[in-house]
Order: sequence, then structure tokens, then C-alpha cells
Amino acid sequence: MTRPTPPVPVPLSNMGQPVPRYQAADKVTGAQPYVADVPIANLLHARLVTSAIAKGRIVAIDDRAAALPGVVRIYTYLNAPRRIPPRHSSAGGRASDSRMPLASDMIEYGGQIVAMVVAETPEIARDAAQRLVVRYEEGPATATFDQRGATTSHPQPLARSAKQVGNFDEAYAAAPVRIDQRYSTPAQHHNTIELFSTTAVWEGDQLTLHESSRWVHNLANGIAETIGFPPEKVRVKSPFMGGSFGSRSFMMQHSGLVSLAARELGRPIKLLITRSQGYAIDTYRAETRQRVRLAAERSGNLVAFGHEGLELSSRPDNYSVAGTAHTAEMYGYGNVLTRVSLVHADRNTPGFMRSPAELPYMFALETAMDEMAIELNLDPVELRRINDTQLSPITGAPFTSRSLMKCFDQAAESFGWAKRNPVPGSMTDGDWQVGYGCAAASYPVLMQACAARIVLTPNGKARVEVAVHDVGAGAYTAMQQIAARELGLASQDVTVLLGDSRLPAGPPAGGSMTTASGGSAIFACAAKIRERFGGRMPRVREFSAAFERLNVNRIEEYTEWSPFGPAGMEAINNGRAFFPPPPPPGTTNPPRPVRFSFGANFVEVRIHRLTREIRVARITGAFEGGYIVNPRLARSQYMAGMIWGVASALHESTELDLIRARYVNDNLAEYLVAVSADIPQVDVIMVPEVDNQVNPIGVKGIGELSNVGTAAAVSNAVFHATGKRIRDLPITMDKLLTV
Ligand code: MOS
Repeated sequence: MTRPTPPVPVPLSNMGQPVPRYQAADKVTGAQPYVADVPIANLLHARLVTSAIAKGRIVAIDDRAAALPGVVRIYTYLNAPRRIPPRHSSAGGRASDSRMPLASDMIEYGGQIVAMVVAETPEIARDAAQRLVVRYEEGPATATFDQRGATTSHPQPLARSAKQVGNFDEAYAAAPVRIDQRYSTPAQHHNTIELFSTTAVWEGDQLTLHESSRWVHNLANGIAETIGFPPEKVRVKSPFMGGSFGSRSFMMQHSGLVSLAARELGRPIKLLITRSQGYAIDTYRAETRQRVRLAAERSGNLVAFGHEGLELSSRPDNYSVAGTAHTAEMYGYGNVLTRVSLVHADRNTPGFMRSPAELPYMFALETAMDEMAIELNLDPVELRRINDTQLSPITGAPFTSRSLMKCFDQAAESFGWAKRNPVPGSMTDGDWQVGYGCAAASYPVLMQACAARIVLTPNGKARVEVAVHDVGAGAYTAMQQIAARELGLASQDVTVLLGDSRLPAGPPAGGSMTTASGGSAIFACAAKIRERFGGRMPRVREFSAAFERLNVNRIEEYTEWSPFGPAGMEAINNGRAFFPPPPPPGTTNPPRPVRFSFGANFVEVRIHRLTREIRVARITGAFEGGYIVNPRLARSQYMAGMIWGVASALHESTELDLIRARYVNDNLAEYLVAVSADIPQVDVIMVPEVDNQVNPIGVKGIGELSNVGTAAAVSNAVFHATGKRIRDLPITMDKLLTV
């Protein structure tokens, strides 16, 4: 059965035109080349061998495969090129994991690189990699929480997770209605369609890396530091990506190894990493354990919110998402007490994955809100309404904009929420139990400094250069539309260049900040171009005369848009993470407005009476995100995000071998994701909203907002269908059989 393509969304107020993304046909027909497709002459091919154990040391390597015809070199810790060990991004460095491969005989996590074979063909490299025999001395490994050897820490970056307002203990103890529950979320891997790959090409002492990266300035600077070269000698090209979801954010460690191997062997090298190897090569979403305590008056007024979390990280690196910093801003709670700690185990370092903090922590909060609504015998939408707030519950500062209840009301209306019988287990359709559930979504409005260059010519064409990235969501088209609007040009007359470290520097394609950051830089740069014409763009047909008056045949402007001062731009130029410093004490009166985008998800699930098969029949999501540059692309982002949210609710989980601390389902056959065909109906409502405070273009960012609320909406719908509350993701059939 095929679903009809929904009509092109009609732009509502404060939305741009729904133009199709301009490389759409190339993308869906496979004509768009990814970095591994770039033809390179005289290429060598590399293949990794990764560790079969998670902890211990290498005692012997039988590398007789090095003598096979066509094998050029097998690199191990005994002969690896010397590199400078980088620092993890949380410690001021640029790496996704502070451990450098082939640095010693020590094994610190499963899947660690233990050798790299370089050969004339990919087949020979693979053959030799399979013949390589590594013998280990294996020590006891710690896989995750609650295991011998797991250690807990509360490093400085986690200070942001700790919020305290009023007296939580007192308010909680005195309240007539209380919820105190534990929630858990699993490890998840990004599983982008495009595999990780790196191709290193030297021309003299100039290195070009073709690598799928969502932060080219990070990778170029990181590689330069690792191989001991000045940054201007390294160029990274990542023009098109087959997905990111948070992967490829910071430098992965194999890239420095491939770069120096290519230099040593005097030929370009392409390393293609298998899907299974990719599970330990880059980051992943770490598993969490959480406790939520909510207290309310009988009226539904919340009076206390406590949220504690444990997140997993590696032994050396303090990666954290600290999601209580966000859940604490969600409702008018009165008294608040939150805190997150890290648990360290023998794993590769985790990292960003779409809505890194919000997905797991909002799952817990929004499930707890549903539980509270049941306790109070209140409609869950009404519980949100009673506790909605236009002021931050932490600082008392206003939200720059907050249309949460508009989202709830429009989604509820469209979904048919009023038809729901609130009694759990009361709705059936033949052998299927039917459940309706809802949950809120929210995501912080993030942005970083960004530079842009625009070149305009008298023929009415412009070239826009900005090193933001298109992870697959249509950034080329969004940047094109913003430039065209500001310069008074037709979209197709604007050429956009992205994803190249030679371009003006931009932030990572993370935190849903590409449009806000790159778009604001283009907006500022276009303003400078307008100034050249005296503050107003001439009409295109007057360009020739206008250029003649200025006595130029092209106009070029470069701008740095740096909302947090020069330090922010310097960090972006250098490819380092940047956190705007908090205002000095005593200067926070009145407190700075808080910036979030919001949404609401409504879900219908169907659960088979006997088999407990769980199906999501339909989802409705309503979202607000300030100015929407392109409602067609925005709708696709929202749709796909909610489908991904269903995967988090029902399918996605990286299973760990608890004894050997290794990933078990490291392939797309056993790591389950939801696809479009799993959910017959996905409806998106874009709630018009104007926010003139967030940035010059009023864009709040939408990419991650879309998948924040879905898991809790599904879990709440599962409860409504069955009367069984599942607080441990993913919600699988076995949990419904045994609970
Ligand atoms: Mo998000 S994974 O921080 O882009």
C-alpha cells in the first residue's frame, strides 16, 4: 500500500517559500557523490583490524599477511607513525575520544583499532586484515552501570546539570500527590547510511582530507595538531553527507593515522570503515539511569521537581549531556533539585546523538508527567496547561518565546484527542488494544559564531561561502533562500558552497544551529553588500548600472557574525567547542531571557491482545520554531524526527555483552530502526511563531526538537492501551508480556 505524497505545505505567517531542495533528484538517485566516491588516482586502500577484547594487552601479532602480494604495509603499535596525542573535546581539545590508536599494546575498549592494513585493492586489504592474528592477554572488563569496576564521578562540566530552587525536600514531603519513579534509556548508535571513510591526499606538504565530517574546521585543525603541521597545510572537504545524527562531530582518531600513512607511503590512501567497526570508531548515545520525583497539589499545581541522572562515559573522557539542565526549565515547578553524575566503564567515549540530552531526559520527565496526570485524575494536556509558564522556573527570566500550549491544542484538535476514553485499557479494535498518548518536546535554541563570504556579480548571480554542513537536511537550500531573500535575487541565481575548511568558518552541524548560525552570518554579510549600494539593493535589471556607478565588476564581502564576542569566533576558527561564559556575578538582574523551542506529540498505538506486537498507527506533531525558512524542508525534518523517535521508543538499542563489554548487535540486521513504512500516518503542524530576540533572522532551530517528545508519547500511549507502564526504553514485546 502506498501512501499519497502530502501536498506541499502552504507557508503560514513568518515562513519562507516551500521550494524543493535543489539537489533532491541527485540525492535520491544516488548521483550525489559522498567523499568515498571522489575519484583519486594512484590510490591505496586501507582496512582496520579492531580489538576482539575490551580490556587487556596485545601479547603477539602474527602479521605474515604483510608478505601477501599487493599488501603494502601493515601498521600496528610497533610501527605506527608518530602522532601528537589529542585532547577530548570536553577538555578543550578537538577529539571525540582522547585515546590514540596504535599508541601502545594496551587495550581499553572493545573495537579499539589494533592494526591498519594498506594494500593495492580493497579486496587485498580485507583479505590481509582477516588473516592477521592478534593474541591478547585479557583482563576483566566493565561494560556498564552496576558492574564491578564501574566508577562514578561528578566532573566540572556537569555543574550545569545541578539546579536548585527553593526547598525541594520540604515541598516534596509536604505535597499531597507524589510520583517517585526510575527510568532508563539504552545506548544507541547513529547508523548513518554513509559509512565512515577517510581519504588522505598529499600534494607536496599540503594535505587534503576527503572525510565525511560535520565540522570541517574542527577536523582540519585537529589533524594539523595531531600530525604536527600548521593548520594552513590541511584542508578538509565534506560537501555532502549521508547522515550524521551527531556522529562525525569531532575528530576521530583514525584520520591522523591515515594522513601520516599516506605521507609515509607516498600515495593517497582511502580507509573505508565497516558498519560493525563504526560502532567503536566514533561516538554513540550513552545509556542513562534516571530518577524523577514530582509533587503536586490536588489542583494539579506542581510544587516540586527532582531529577537525578547517571550517564555512562569512557574511563578517561568526561562526555556528558546533563539533560536535567533542560528538564528543569520545562514547567513552573516551584521547588527544583537536579543533578547528573557520570559512570565510567571500559568503553569508547560516547558523544552527541540527535537531541543528546533531551531525548533521554525528556522521556523520563514526560512519562512522569503522564503518571502524575493519572494520579491526579487529570487530562495530561490539562496538567501541562496548569503548569505552563512564561518564566524560567530556575532564574525567573522570561522565555524569548514559548508556544507550548498552542502546540498541544492544535495537535490535540487535529489528532482527535477528545475522542479518547481516559480509562487505561478501555479502547479496543478487534484483537488490538488501542492507546492514545501525548508528550511535550523542547530543545534549547543554540547558535555559534559563524563567518560568511558573498560574491555578487552584475549578471545578478551570487556565490555564498560558509563552512556549515549539509548533513542531509537541506542546508544548501536554506542558505540559498536566506541569501536570495536578503539580496533580492532568485534562489536559483545563488550558488552555495558548504563543508570545506577553506571556506569562512562555521560551527558544527550540531545542536540544530546550522540555519540560525549560518543564516545569521549570511544575513549580516548581505547587509554589508547592501551598504555598498547605499543601504538598498538595486533591482537585478539595474545591477549593471549600479556596478558601473561603483566602478567595480564584482562585489565581495566577508563577515564574522559573533553573538558571544570575539572569543566565540576564535573558537570556531580553531575548531574548538565554545560555551558562552556566564555573566559576571551581580550583572544578572534582570536575568537573561531563556531560549527554547517547543512542540507536542500525539501518538496512537495498537497492541495485539495475544502477541503483544506494538504498532504505531499514527503520530501528530505540532512544533514552533520561530521563523521557518522553508516549510517543505521543515516538515520533512519534523516527520523524520518523529519516525526516529518511534525507533527510540520501540526499537533502537545497542546491546552489550555484559561479560566481555562488547557491542553485540553492531549491524543493521540486528540494530532495529523505524522507517517510514512502519508508521502509516505522520502529520506535522507548524505553529506560526515570531521570535525577534533569538538572533537577527528569528530562527530557533528545529532539527532535534522533532524527536524529543515521541518516545514519551509512545510510552504514555502504551500505558493507555494496556495499563502497563514501561519505564525502560525501548518498549519491546517481552516487557509487555512480563510486567
Ligand atoms: Mo545534536 S546530535 O547535538 O546535533
